[in-house]
Amino acid sequence: MKFFVDTADIKEIEALTETGLLDGVTTNPSLVAKSGHSNFVELIREISSIVSGPVSAEVAATDYETMMEEGKFLSKIADNIAVKVPMTPAGLRVCKNLSYDGVMVNVTLCFSAAQAILAAKAGAAFVSPFVGRLDDIGSGGMQLISDICQVYSNYPDFKTEVLVASVRSPEHVVQAGLLGAHVATIPPSVIRQLFKHPLTDSGLAQFVEDWKKSGQTIL
Ligand code: E4P
Repeated sequence: MKFFVDTADIKEIEALTETGLLDGVTTNPSLVAKSGHSNFVELIREISSIVSGPVSAEVAATDYETMMEEGKFLSKIADNIAVKVPMTPAGLRVCKNLSYDGVMVNVTLCFSAAQAILAAKAGAAFVSPFVGRLDDIGSGGMQLISDICQVYSNYPDFKTEVLVASVRSPEHVVQAGLLGAHVATIPPSVIRQLFKHPLTDSGLAQFVEDWKKSGQTIL
Protein backbone atom coordinates (compact mmCIF):
# COMPACT_ATOMS: atom_id res chain seq x y z
CA MET A 1 0.00 0.00 0.00
CA LYS A 2 1.43 3.36 -1.02
CA PHE A 3 1.21 6.53 1.08
CA PHE A 4 1.04 9.92 -0.58
CA VAL A 5 0.92 13.09 1.49
CA ASP A 6 -1.94 15.44 0.66
CA THR A 7 -0.32 18.86 1.03
CA ALA A 8 1.53 21.62 -0.81
CA ASP A 9 3.49 22.59 2.31
CA ILE A 10 7.20 22.11 1.52
CA LYS A 11 8.27 21.89 5.18
CA GLU A 12 5.72 19.15 5.86
CA ILE A 13 6.84 17.25 2.75
CA GLU A 14 10.51 17.50 3.75
CA ALA A 15 9.75 16.35 7.29
CA LEU A 16 7.65 13.40 6.16
CA THR A 17 10.20 12.40 3.51
CA GLU A 18 12.62 11.80 6.39
CA THR A 19 10.35 9.00 7.65
CA GLY A 20 11.20 7.02 4.51
CA LEU A 21 7.54 6.02 4.28
CA LEU A 22 6.35 8.54 1.70
CA ASP A 23 5.64 7.35 -1.85
CA GLY A 24 4.31 10.54 -3.41
CA VAL A 25 2.47 13.84 -3.02
CA THR A 26 -0.92 15.15 -4.06
CA THR A 27 -1.77 18.82 -4.34
CA ASN A 28 -4.88 20.66 -5.43
CA PRO A 29 -5.68 24.35 -6.00
CA SER A 30 -7.02 24.75 -2.45
CA LEU A 31 -3.87 23.24 -0.91
CA VAL A 32 -1.67 25.44 -3.13
CA ALA A 33 -3.61 28.55 -2.03
CA LYS A 34 -3.26 27.45 1.62
CA SER A 35 0.52 27.00 1.22
CA GLY A 36 0.90 30.73 0.54
CA HIS A 37 3.24 30.12 -2.44
CA SER A 38 2.68 32.59 -5.27
CA ASN A 39 4.42 30.58 -8.02
CA PHE A 40 2.62 27.28 -8.59
CA VAL A 41 5.07 25.98 -11.20
CA GLU A 42 8.09 26.63 -8.98
CA LEU A 43 6.29 25.03 -6.05
CA ILE A 44 5.61 21.87 -8.07
CA ARG A 45 9.21 21.85 -9.34
CA GLU A 46 10.49 22.00 -5.77
CA ILE A 47 8.13 19.29 -4.50
CA SER A 48 9.05 16.97 -7.37
CA SER A 49 12.74 17.39 -6.56
CA ILE A 50 12.17 16.38 -2.92
CA VAL A 51 10.01 13.31 -3.60
CA SER A 52 10.92 10.66 -6.16
CA GLY A 53 7.39 9.21 -6.43
CA PRO A 54 4.40 10.70 -8.25
CA VAL A 55 3.56 14.36 -7.55
CA SER A 56 0.04 15.34 -8.58
CA ALA A 57 -0.25 18.81 -10.09
CA GLU A 58 -3.76 19.92 -11.02
CA VAL A 59 -4.75 21.84 -14.13
CA ALA A 60 -6.56 25.12 -13.47
CA ALA A 61 -8.69 25.36 -16.61
CA THR A 62 -11.88 23.39 -17.22
CA ASP A 63 -12.07 23.50 -21.04
CA TYR A 64 -10.42 20.76 -23.11
CA GLU A 65 -7.96 22.88 -25.11
CA THR A 66 -6.54 24.82 -22.17
CA MET A 67 -6.42 21.75 -19.92
CA MET A 68 -4.41 19.95 -22.64
CA GLU A 69 -1.93 22.83 -22.84
CA GLU A 70 -1.65 23.11 -19.07
CA GLY A 71 -1.32 19.34 -18.71
CA LYS A 72 1.48 19.11 -21.29
CA PHE A 73 3.25 22.02 -19.62
CA LEU A 74 2.95 20.56 -16.12
CA SER A 75 4.09 17.12 -17.28
CA LYS A 76 7.37 18.61 -18.49
CA ILE A 77 8.27 20.04 -15.07
CA ALA A 78 9.67 16.67 -13.95
CA ASP A 79 9.49 12.97 -14.79
CA ASN A 80 7.44 12.20 -11.67
CA ILE A 81 4.55 14.60 -12.36
CA ALA A 82 1.04 13.15 -12.46
CA VAL A 83 -1.26 15.64 -14.18
CA LYS A 84 -4.48 15.97 -12.20
CA VAL A 85 -7.66 16.56 -14.17
CA PRO A 86 -11.27 16.85 -13.02
CA MET A 87 -13.77 14.04 -13.52
CA THR A 88 -15.58 15.73 -16.43
CA PRO A 89 -16.01 14.73 -20.09
CA ALA A 90 -13.32 17.25 -21.07
CA GLY A 91 -11.07 16.10 -18.22
CA LEU A 92 -11.36 12.48 -19.33
CA ARG A 93 -10.60 13.46 -22.90
CA VAL A 94 -7.43 15.14 -21.66
CA CYS A 95 -6.71 12.01 -19.58
CA LYS A 96 -7.05 9.75 -22.60
CA ASN A 97 -4.73 11.88 -24.76
CA LEU A 98 -2.05 12.56 -22.15
CA SER A 99 -2.06 8.92 -21.02
CA TYR A 100 -1.62 7.82 -24.64
CA ASP A 101 1.50 10.03 -24.74
CA GLY A 102 2.86 8.28 -21.63
CA VAL A 103 1.95 10.97 -19.09
CA MET A 104 0.65 9.85 -15.66
CA VAL A 105 -2.84 11.26 -15.09
CA ASN A 106 -4.78 11.43 -11.82
CA VAL A 107 -8.55 11.84 -12.31
CA THR A 108 -9.81 13.77 -9.31
CA LEU A 109 -13.20 14.54 -7.76
CA CYS A 110 -14.49 11.00 -8.24
CA PHE A 111 -17.67 10.31 -6.28
CA SER A 112 -19.13 7.20 -7.93
CA ALA A 113 -18.07 3.79 -9.22
CA ALA A 114 -19.46 4.76 -12.63
CA GLN A 115 -17.02 7.69 -12.75
CA ALA A 116 -14.17 5.38 -11.69
CA ILE A 117 -14.97 3.03 -14.59
CA LEU A 118 -14.77 5.98 -16.99
CA ALA A 119 -11.42 7.05 -15.53
CA ALA A 120 -10.01 3.54 -16.01
CA LYS A 121 -11.29 3.39 -19.58
CA ALA A 122 -9.61 6.76 -20.21
CA GLY A 123 -6.28 5.22 -19.14
CA ALA A 124 -5.81 7.12 -15.87
CA ALA A 125 -2.80 6.14 -13.78
CA PHE A 126 -4.84 7.07 -10.68
CA VAL A 127 -8.45 7.72 -9.81
CA SER A 128 -9.14 9.77 -6.68
CA PRO A 129 -12.40 8.92 -4.88
CA PHE A 130 -13.03 11.46 -2.08
CA VAL A 131 -14.13 9.43 0.94
CA GLY A 132 -14.27 12.23 3.54
CA ARG A 133 -16.49 14.46 1.43
CA LEU A 134 -18.89 11.55 0.86
CA ASP A 135 -18.95 10.81 4.60
CA ASP A 136 -19.71 14.51 5.17
CA ILE A 137 -22.98 14.18 3.25
CA GLY A 138 -23.88 10.88 4.93
CA SER A 139 -23.00 8.72 1.92
CA GLY A 140 -20.45 6.03 2.91
CA GLY A 141 -17.09 6.94 1.41
CA MET A 142 -15.50 3.57 2.09
CA GLN A 143 -18.35 1.72 0.39
CA LEU A 144 -17.34 3.56 -2.77
CA ILE A 145 -13.75 2.33 -2.37
CA SER A 146 -15.04 -1.21 -1.92
CA ASP A 147 -17.18 -0.92 -5.07
CA ILE A 148 -14.36 0.51 -7.18
CA CYS A 149 -11.84 -2.11 -6.00
CA GLN A 150 -14.32 -4.86 -6.81
CA VAL A 151 -15.13 -3.53 -10.28
CA TYR A 152 -11.46 -2.98 -11.15
CA SER A 153 -10.55 -6.48 -9.98
CA ASN A 154 -13.01 -7.88 -12.54
CA TYR A 155 -11.00 -6.32 -15.37
CA PRO A 156 -7.25 -7.05 -15.20
CA ASP A 157 -6.71 -4.79 -18.23
CA PHE A 158 -7.71 -1.80 -16.05
CA LYS A 159 -4.33 -0.48 -14.87
CA THR A 160 -5.71 2.49 -12.92
CA GLU A 161 -4.70 2.64 -9.24
CA VAL A 162 -7.33 3.48 -6.63
CA LEU A 163 -6.01 6.53 -4.77
CA VAL A 164 -8.16 7.05 -1.67
CA ALA A 165 -8.47 10.83 -1.21
CA SER A 166 -10.14 13.21 1.23
CA VAL A 167 -8.83 11.03 4.06
CA ARG A 168 -9.79 12.35 7.50
CA SER A 169 -8.65 9.71 9.99
CA PRO A 170 -6.38 6.69 10.58
CA GLU A 171 -9.54 4.58 10.32
CA HIS A 172 -9.93 5.67 6.69
CA VAL A 173 -6.36 4.50 6.02
CA VAL A 174 -6.95 1.11 7.67
CA GLN A 175 -10.22 0.62 5.78
CA ALA A 176 -8.48 1.53 2.52
CA GLY A 177 -5.87 -1.14 3.28
CA LEU A 178 -8.48 -3.76 4.18
CA LEU A 179 -10.20 -3.12 0.87
CA GLY A 180 -6.95 -3.40 -1.08
CA ALA A 181 -6.80 0.19 -2.37
CA HIS A 182 -3.44 0.85 -4.01
CA VAL A 183 -2.77 4.28 -2.49
CA ALA A 184 -4.05 6.59 0.24
CA THR A 185 -3.27 10.28 0.07
CA ILE A 186 -3.20 11.46 3.63
CA PRO A 187 -3.00 14.89 5.30
CA PRO A 188 0.22 15.35 7.35
CA SER A 189 -1.72 15.48 10.65
CA VAL A 190 -3.34 12.10 9.93
CA ILE A 191 0.03 10.55 8.95
CA ARG A 192 1.37 11.62 12.35
CA GLN A 193 -1.68 10.07 14.06
CA LEU A 194 -0.89 6.74 12.38
CA PHE A 195 2.23 6.38 14.52
CA LYS A 196 0.41 6.90 17.80
CA HIS A 197 -0.94 4.43 20.32
CA PRO A 198 -1.14 5.07 24.09
CA LEU A 199 0.15 1.56 24.84
CA THR A 200 3.24 2.26 22.69
CA ASP A 201 3.92 5.42 24.74
CA SER A 202 3.39 3.80 28.14
CA GLY A 203 5.26 0.63 27.10
CA LEU A 204 8.27 2.64 25.93
CA ALA A 205 8.31 4.75 29.12
CA GLN A 206 8.39 1.54 31.16
CA PHE A 207 11.24 0.05 29.08
CA VAL A 208 13.29 3.24 29.45
CA GLU A 209 12.76 3.30 33.21
CA ASP A 210 13.61 -0.38 33.65
CA TRP A 211 16.72 -0.06 31.49
CA LYS A 212 17.96 2.83 33.64
CA LYS A 213 17.43 0.65 36.73
CA SER A 214 19.57 -2.10 35.18
CA GLY A 215 22.52 0.31 35.09
CA GLN A 216 23.69 -1.03 31.72
CA THR A 217 24.63 0.64 28.43
CA ILE A 218 24.75 -0.80 24.94
CA LEU A 219 27.50 1.46 23.56
C1 E4P B 1 -6.52 14.73 -3.10
O1 E4P B 1 -6.00 14.62 -4.16
C2 E4P B 1 -7.63 15.65 -2.81
O2 E4P B 1 -7.40 16.86 -3.43
C3 E4P B 1 -7.84 15.81 -1.35
O3 E4P B 1 -7.67 14.57 -0.71
C4 E4P B 1 -9.14 16.48 -0.99
O4 E4P B 1 -9.34 16.40 0.40
P1 E4P B 1 -10.39 17.29 1.19
O5 E4P B 1 -11.75 16.76 0.96
O6 E4P B 1 -9.98 17.17 2.62
O7 E4P B 1 -10.25 18.70 0.66
